[in-house]
Amino acid sequence: MDKKFKRTLVTCALPYANGPVHIGHLAGVYVPADIYVRYLRMRGEDVLYVCGSDEHGVPITIKARQQGCTPQDIVDQYHKIIKDSFSGLGINFDIYGRTSSEVHGKNASEFFRKLYDEGKFITKESEQYYDPEAKTFLADRYIVGTCPKCGAEGAYGDQCEKCGSTLSPEELINPKSKLSGAEPVKKKTSHWYLPLDQYEKWLSEWILDGHKEWRSNVYGQCKSWIDGGLQPRAVSRDLDWGVPVPVEGAEGKVLYVWFDAPIGYISNTQELLPQSWEKWWKSGDTKLVHFIGKDNIVFHCIVFPSMLKAYGDGYILPDNVPANEFLNLEGDKISTSKNWAVWAHEYIKDFPGKEDVMRYVLTANAPETKDNDFSWKDFQARNNSELVAIFGNFVNRAIVLTHKYFAGKVPTCGELQDIDREALGEIPALRASLEKNIEGYHFREALKDAMSIARVGNKYISDTEPWKVAKTDIERTGTILNVCLQICADLAIAFEPFTPFAAERLRNMLGVSIFAGYDHRSGEQETVNTYKSGEGLAIHTVPAPCDASSAASACEASSAISTESGAGTEKSLLNWSRLGDTDLLPAGHQLNQAELLFAKIEDEAINAQLARLEAIKAEREAAAKAEAAKTVTPQKEECTFEDFQKMDIRTATVLEAERVPKTDKLLKLSIDTGIDKRTIVSGIAEFYTPEEMVGKQICILANLAPRKIRGIESKGMILMARQNDGKMRFITPAEVLCNGAEIG
Ligand code: 2FM
Ligand code: ZN
Repeated sequence: MDKKFKRTLVTCALPYANGPVHIGHLAGVYVPADIYVRYLRMRGEDVLYVCGSDEHGVPITIKARQQGCTPQDIVDQYHKIIKDSFSGLGINFDIYGRTSSEVHGKNASEFFRKLYDEGKFITKESEQYYDPEAKTFLADRYIVGTCPKCGAEGAYGDQCEKCGSTLSPEELINPKSKLSGAEPVKKKTSHWYLPLDQYEKWLSEWILDGHKEWRSNVYGQCKSWIDGGLQPRAVSRDLDWGVPVPVEGAEGKVLYVWFDAPIGYISNTQELLPQSWEKWWKSGDTKLVHFIGKDNIVFHCIVFPSMLKAYGDGYILPDNVPANEFLNLEGDKISTSKNWAVWAHEYIKDFPGKEDVMRYVLTANAPETKDNDFSWKDFQARNNSELVAIFGNFVNRAIVLTHKYFAGKVPTCGELQDIDREALGEIPALRASLEKNIEGYHFREALKDAMSIARVGNKYISDTEPWKVAKTDIERTGTILNVCLQICADLAIAFEPFTPFAAERLRNMLGVSIFAGYDHRSGEQETVNTYKSGEGLAIHTVPAPCDASSAASACEASSAISTESGAGTEKSLLNWSRLGDTDLLPAGHQLNQAELLFAKIEDEAINAQLARLEAIKAEREAAAKAEAAKTVTPQKEECTFEDFQKMDIRTATVLEAERVPKTDKLLKLSIDTGIDKRTIVSGIAEFYTPEEMVGKQICILANLAPRKIRGIESKGMILMARQNDGKMRFITPAEVLCNGAEIG
C-alpha cells in the first residue's frame, strides 16, 4: 500500500439489470477487480469492495414493455441472476446493492437537490420527440424508423443495429413511436444540465497533468474529451422509471441513469456501513479505484468526478481507473441483443467445479491494452495444457509421492543441492514481479508470474525424478519432496487471487489455511477472516482494525498464529508475506489425500458450446435473410405501353457457354433464339458456371442494340432477377417452350 493511503475502496461498474452478465463483463471488470481485492486482502490491507445492479435507464423499460411486466419485475429477475453469477464465480463483494433501493433513491435525490440549490446546474430548453397518442416524451430508443445510412427498417433513434451507425432521431426516415406507432412530434421540454465546460480546466489539471500514470487507453480518452471541449450534459430525462427529479414542477422527469448510477457506489457503501461509510468516501487516506470497461471511461473520469467536485464536502476522486478494452467471442463482437455471448450463469451450470478455469482463461486473455478474443478451443487448451498439465500435474505428483513414500507427512529437508537452491531461489523474484504487476493493474502478467511458480515446480520434479531416486536414496527423496511441497504451499498462496477455488482445494490437501483479509459484510461489526473459501466467509475471525496501521499489525498478528484448530485437524496458517519462504510446511506436518486440482476438458464439452454458437449464428443469418427479403427496391418511374412494346422479349436456349478470358464476371453464351443463333456476353459468371448454363432455357431481350464487350459482339441481353441478397438468377419458363416465343 502506498504510504499516503490507509485503505482501498474498490468499485466495479454496476451492471445493468436488464440481462445477465457475460464473459466480456467478467474479463473487463469483475475478474480483474476480484484479483486485486483478494491480493490486497491477503496482504492485510483494509479493503472495501462495492458493486450492485444499475436498475434504471430506458432499456429496462423497453424490456418490461416487451415482456408485459413492470420494470421492477425485470430488475428483480436480473438482479438475482447477476448476483448469483458473481458469487458462483467466487466474486464476493462486501455489498452487492441495487439502485432501485430506498437508500439509493434518497441519496441520489439529495445529491441532485444540493447541486440544484447551490445553482450548480443550468437549465436548457430543447425540442424533443413526443408521442401525441401515448402523451409522453420519447427517449431516442423509443423511436424507430428507416436508417438513413443503410435503409434498414427498425433502426432506433440512437443507433441502427443493422449497420451499426450512431444516429439521432431527427435523421430517421419515417420515425414512429415504439409505444403507439404514432408519428412523433417535436415538443419543447426543459432539462437540467451539468456544465462540464466549467470543470474543464480543473479536469485537465487533475487528469492530464496529475495522472499521467493511468493506462494509456484511459488517459487518451480523457485527453481527447478534454481537448475536444466539454459540453454541458443533461442530468434529467422525461421518463417514468428512475429517481424522480426532486424539484417542484419536474413531474414526469427522472434523474438520467448516468447521473444516479455512480452515486450508487456511495449509496451501497452507506447501506453496508451506515455509521462509517464516510471514512471510505471522504478521507484522503482512502485510495479509490474504479474497475470499468472502456465504454464507461468518460462517466468515471469526467462526469462523476465533476459531479463530486460540484458537490464538494470532501468527496475523494479515483486514484486510478483501470479500464479494460473489449473481449470478442470467436472473432465476433459480443452482443447481448444478438445472444452472441457466453453467459456467466450458463457457464456455471455447464461447467460445474470449473469456475476457476474461466477466471484463469479470462485473465490470461484479458483485454488490458487492446480488444482480445475468447475462443472455446483456447479455453480447452489453456485448461488441459496449463492448469492440468503443469499446475495440477506438479501438485498431484508431489502429494501422491509424499503419501507413497512418507505416509503423507512432510519429509525432512536434508542438505540442499544446487538444483534445489535454484528452484527455490526463483520464487522470491517471481513474487516480487507478481506484486508489482498486480499493484500496477497488469493482471495478465501477474498471472504469468504465478504460473511461472508452477512451471518451476513442475520442471524441478521432472528433473529430479524423486520416484527414481526413491529406489536408492530415500533421504534425498525426502529432501526433493520437501522442496516440492514448499513450492506447492507457495502456489496455494499465489493462486488465491486468481483461482480461489483451486487454491482452497490445494490448501485442503496441504492441510493449511491462509489469512484472506477483513470481512466488511457483517456491517459495522467488522471482522478479520483468515480462511476464505470460494464462497467467502471466515472460519477464523479476529477483530477488525480501525485503521491501516492496526490492519497491518492484525495481519502480522495473524501470521504469528501458526496453527488453527478446526474440526479436529491442525492447520498451518500461511499469509502472503510468507510466499517464497522455504519452511512453509514443517517436517512432519500431515498432508491430506490428494484430490484432483483441475480436470481435463474433453472435446465433447467444447463441441457442445461451439454447436450452440453455430446455431445462434445460423438463426441470426436466417433472420437477416428474412429481413432482407422484406426489403424490395422501390418501383421505377412509370412507362407507357408503347415503351414496353418496343422491347422484344423471347425465350431462347443456351447452346454453349465459356468464360471470357481474363474476366471474373463474364460468360460468352451461344444462344438459339428461334430466330437465329447468336452470341450474348453476360455478367453472370459470379453466379453460374458455364456448365450450369448449357441447355438451360432462358428469357432474353432480343432487340437490344448490339454492343462490343471485351472485343466480342454481344447481341441481346439475358433477363436476370436480382435478389435482396444481391444474387442474380436467370428467368426460366415454368415449362419448356419453343425457342423464340414472344413474351409480353
Ligand atoms: O455500462 C454499464 O453497464 C453501466 N450500467 C455501468 C454503470 S457504472 C456506475 F457508474 F454505476
Ligand atoms: Zn443502418
